[in-house]
Amino acid sequence: MRDFGWRLWPSAMLLLVAACGSSDEVGADWPGYGGTADESHFSPLTQINDSNVSRLGLAWSIDLPTTVASHSAPVAVAGILYFSVGYSVISAVDAKTGRTIWQYDPKVADVLGDEQRAAWGARGIAYGDDKIFTGTQDGRLIALDAKTGALVWSVQTREHLADGRYITGAPRFFNGKVIIGHGGADYANIRGYVTTYDADSGRQLWRFYTVPGKPGTKDGAASDSVMPMAARTWSGEWWKYGGGGTAWNAITFDRELNRIYIGTGNGAPWNRNIRSPGGGDNLFLSSIIAVDADSGEYIWHYQTTPGESWDYASTMDIALATLRVAGNTRRVILHAPKNGFFYVIDRDSGKLLSAKPFAKVTWANQIDPGTGRPIENPEARYPNGQTLIWPSPMGAHNWTAASFSPQTRLVYIPKIELPGLYDEKGIESANWRRRERLVFDSGFNPFAGTDVPPTMPGSLGALLAWDPIGQKARWSVPLRDPHNGGIASTAGNLVFQGNAEGRFVAYAADNGKTLWSFDAQNGIIGQPITFLADGRQYVSVMTGFGGIASSLGPMAARSGWDYRTQRRRLLTFAIGGSAKLSPLVRDDQPIADDNDFKIDLAFAQKGARIYGEQCLSCHGVAAVAGGNAPDLRKSAVPLSAETFRAVVGEGVLSPSGMPKFDELKDADLLALRHFIRLRARDDLRAEAPRR
Ligand code: HEC
Repeated sequence: MRDFGWRLWPSAMLLLVAACGSSDEVGADWPGYGGTADESHFSPLTQINDSNVSRLGLAWSIDLPTTVASHSAPVAVAGILYFSVGYSVISAVDAKTGRTIWQYDPKVADVLGDEQRAAWGARGIAYGDDKIFTGTQDGRLIALDAKTGALVWSVQTREHLADGRYITGAPRFFNGKVIIGHGGADYANIRGYVTTYDADSGRQLWRFYTVPGKPGTKDGAASDSVMPMAARTWSGEWWKYGGGGTAWNAITFDRELNRIYIGTGNGAPWNRNIRSPGGGDNLFLSSIIAVDADSGEYIWHYQTTPGESWDYASTMDIALATLRVAGNTRRVILHAPKNGFFYVIDRDSGKLLSAKPFAKVTWANQIDPGTGRPIENPEARYPNGQTLIWPSPMGAHNWTAASFSPQTRLVYIPKIELPGLYDEKGIESANWRRRERLVFDSGFNPFAGTDVPPTMPGSLGALLAWDPIGQKARWSVPLRDPHNGGIASTAGNLVFQGNAEGRFVAYAADNGKTLWSFDAQNGIIGQPITFLADGRQYVSVMTGFGGIASSLGPMAARSGWDYRTQRRRLLTFAIGGSAKLSPLVRDDQPIADDNDFKIDLAFAQKGARIYGEQCLSCHGVAAVAGGNAPDLRKSAVPLSAETFRAVVGEGVLSPSGMPKFDELKDADLLALRHFIRLRARDDLRAEAPRR
């Protein structure tokens, strides 16, 4: 019986391929974000395997434009590769050559205007019924003709225009329908939901809200009947803060049970003492919710972090498997959310089967196997002021894909080992009383202006191979930087992952040995995929360093991926491939300074606070950029009050991704300039002995 899960696999795959009506061979296509509907990011292909991967070479590459995001997972169907770059600009290319077939630009920057305050781009797209589906940062869900790239339909998924919601996650296609969630709860007072649309017409079918609205009000949504139960776990006037619980990444369709599992995110704001001052579990934050795929009706939920107060989203992959657990064959969910515990959950009932920490965890000691609830550490809710807690709001695993191989029965996790500083100083502020949100406002500031983590050890991340049945690590490869690329595993006993240091690597899936490695000349966050074109197996991955990974300042900057000079590309590999990348030109632009600029420490401190709230998520912790936006220490713009005002206050660069901050007064702009000069001068001084 040991191989039960594996023997089930090929028949499940055949069913899926038949349903898609695409290429014949099992695993020939990679039609959705998770590979197949079970979201395991696993391919049954074996042409490329542990015995020949050493001969893997570049088949072709495409240079991508300088833009906020090149970390999306492509999809591959019938020899055509589809991918999204920047603000959901979609391309279709011949998978054998990289030749462009069509391109579609939804012109997101033109629509976003003043509300363009976070720059993440799309992380994945979907294929189904001869259409390509993508979300956009301004909340549209778009269907394109897969053959021509022509627009088939476009719907606005936000409740109100400019309500603060945005889409970064991949839509999922199932049963002739498309489902999409959204993000935004870090920035705006919003209430999370997912919506399902008819794939042919774009007509809305059902919506499920993930947290309760104002009691006594009905929306006519699929979630209405369960909201009174959820509302009993909240207190105060939480709806005025929105509540959060956004489903910004993981959504999984279960073909066997005809259900959708929705992974929900953090509270809005993060700090429970603001949004629900009387405490409570705050359902359904940081949860997996099972709903009926046809109607959206609630079936069960499992909450990984009751009373979420640390940004411990449960929006990480929800992979489906069938495993022998304690002598019984169980249909399970495999889930490694931010909070650092690995969960095996019974799909039929929603009951916890087991949970164990897969990273350093200090907020809770264990998950009680009887109640399924965490046993919290008394320090976890920072009652005594500033407290260092593992994991950080980045999580022990963030959005980059984990992969489950039914062959090795291991889950491969891009693990992060970082603590966060939590402190609720400032929650009584007038902003919070008025329920006003700044750009990045969570109720406390774990990466405040000048703070860097207290230690920067040699390894802040790892590729972890986790045994979900034994709930223990099988092997682990330490990685220097915390936020590395998504993972794909294959039946050729291979695990592919790109890392922040710029290498694309193939490991042996069973023992973690490095079998092949390629100098990708750029950091990789994107998820690799593998597929067949004309019967030959290829592997594709996008290179480019941006998003939340690049906001970690000095940690992210160690590899030197500069916003303007990094080489964003789509790389495609095949056995015997012999294409070459042009030589890499590194950014060695020095830190700028003007000795006549007299730094006022009080101004700089005020500037640090504004920077932490408004600029950090793009320009990096401590004004050290990691590739998502220019490094302000090196920029000449802050040296001139006029140019700085034109860029920051008047938005002259907003078409290329720099938001307009017209609410900042001259004194605020001056404070920001003092902070940037302070950071530049400190770092120049620290570098001086080495020059
Ligand atoms: C949503 C992401 C984002 C946020 C938030 C953001 N920026 Fe930018 N910023 C960018 C991007 C992208 C560019 C590069 C635009 C271009 O290509 O010219 C940029 C450019 C700049 C430049 C010009 C740099 C140069 O040398 O060309 C300055 C100065 C700047 N930003 C300051 C700020 C300040 C100050 C804040 C906070 C008040 C801020 N930015 C917030 C994304 C952001």
